[in-house]
Amino acid sequence: MTNAAIIGTGFYVPSRVVTNEDLTQWMDTSDEWITERSGIKERRWVEQDEAGVTIETGGEMGAKAARMAIEESGIDKNDIDLILYATLSPDVVFPGNGVFIEDLLGLNTVGAMDIRNQCTGFIYALAAADGFIKAGTARTILVVGQEIQSTALNLTDRGRDMAVLFGDGAGAVVVQATEEDRGIISSVLHSQGRFARDLFGEAPMSTIKDRINADLIAQDRHYPTMNGPMVFKHATRRFCESIKEVLEKSGVDLADVDLVIPHQANQRITDAVGARMGVPEERMFSNIAKYGNTTAATIPIAMAEAENEGRLKKGDLLVTVAFGSGFTWGANLIRW
Ligand code: ACO
Repeated sequence: MTNAAIIGTGFYVPSRVVTNEDLTQWMDTSDEWITERSGIKERRWVEQDEAGVTIETGGEMGAKAARMAIEESGIDKNDIDLILYATLSPDVVFPGNGVFIEDLLGLNTVGAMDIRNQCTGFIYALAAADGFIKAGTARTILVVGQEIQSTALNLTDRGRDMAVLFGDGAGAVVVQATEEDRGIISSVLHSQGRFARDLFGEAPMSTIKDRINADLIAQDRHYPTMNGPMVFKHATRRFCESIKEVLEKSGVDLADVDLVIPHQANQRITDAVGARMGVPEERMFSNIAKYGNTTAATIPIAMAEAENEGRLKKGDLLVTVAFGSGFTWGANLIRW
């Protein structure tokens, strides 16, 4: 039977470190408040020039992570026959960022598809990669998760609940067909659009002429907004349900799972899920203190770091799980 195995990982974060203390120059906040509510100590934000233009594009960040994943996998880049690109912050309104990677890496017209599922984007992308490989549509897929979020944050007191949480970054994996008994075992995917407006970026929007106007900007409606307590409540519940569901689907016990990589939303969410499910701290991966929430990039960045730290070895059982805007949520069970 053909399986879809992850054979290489890579990541890239901008070199600019923004500490909690740095944020106090723009908004009324403190290291104590941010650490206690989120576990975040610092995040990476891409540099901008004086006109506010970033020194690198999201596509370029994704390409750096992808080059590392390709090198680690040992494949020839020309083996890649499909790109799946998860992001909520594409460089332009259209096309999606996948095509920029095709160009930057010189991938010779292979298919490129963007996946717009926010914090759950990488879970959906891995499920899609598994499906494409098992259906015979592709054999070697480059899966990227990347965000530039710092340019969309409201750095005033009005936006401080969100601005302190989010960071920029990119992660990538190479997924390849194998006859070995490893790879993506199962995935579960969910959405509930009733809550779309409890965590969303509204403008620019296609439902009004010119998509953005002075009124919208005056009302801060071009910044993302979030109902924090509502997100917290749903996220902890859905993380737990997804872990259970993906394990039950394959008849695997949680006790046999070597590592859980939860989407790095918030350390309090990770801790609540770990406590509720009885997963010991050493089996719940966390790097949120260093990078904040990088949305679709948290899981591939974490995969690359976990592998580099020796916490993810060939044959290990891994669960990835996420919840985010939409609301969307889901999980993958993977034999590494
Ligand atoms: N610094 C200082 N004070 C702040 C900040 C800040 N950055 N942000 C908000 N506050 C204030 C509020 O204004 C409020 O003040 P008030 O009581 O005078 O009105 C006070 O802190 C408490 O606000 P709450 O919203 O009740 O704080 P809460 O304990 O709920 O924590 C938080 C807010 C951290 C956003 C929390 O709701 C949370 O963790 N939610 C989950 C959100 C999340 O993880 N989102 C990630 C994106 S979605 C995903 O990836 C799953």
